[in-house]
Amino acid sequence: MPTRAYLDWNATTPLRPEARAAMIAAMDVVGNPSSVHAEGRAAKALLERARGQIAAALGAEGADIVFTSSATESAALALAGRDLASAAVEHDAVLAWTDASLPVDADGRVTVADPPAARCNWPTAKPAWCRTCPPALRSAT
Ligand SMILES: Cc1ncc(COP(=O)(O)O)c(C=O)c1O
Repeated sequence: MPTRAYLDWNATTPLRPEARAAMIAAMDVVGNPSSVHAEGRAAKALLERARGQIAAALGAEGADIVFTSSATESAALALAGRDLASAAVEHDAVLAWTDASLPVDADGRVTVADPPAARCNWPTAKPAWCRTCPPALRSAT
């Protein structure tokens, strides 16, 4: 019986066998999806199929799916240039874009009595400090 349990599945998770097989198959497609030659078109088709599958799973449109190289890049893409408040326990990738860091208690809950978020009647009212309301408060860590 294992004596150690790995619980940091927010960082890395074991791959489902079908996901692993799909990734390995994709690595054998050598074309640049931005190229117009046959190899590039094949790579583009694979990429667009994946985009469609992800969109369908999320109930989104393919155009809504943006592939990035990392969570840090995704955070930068979403948060750069916004007036942002976030919890002090956020990842550095979010804190790098944070203007107001909100304190948390021992359970990780934001503790300020009147956080900017409380004054922000999202999604209808967007005060100047909050062009987008705090988009990244952790639900788990
Ligand atoms: C919440 C959170 N944001 C950002 C990152 C950074 O991820 P990446 O190494 O993909 O940039 C991590 C990494 O574990 C994370 O847990």
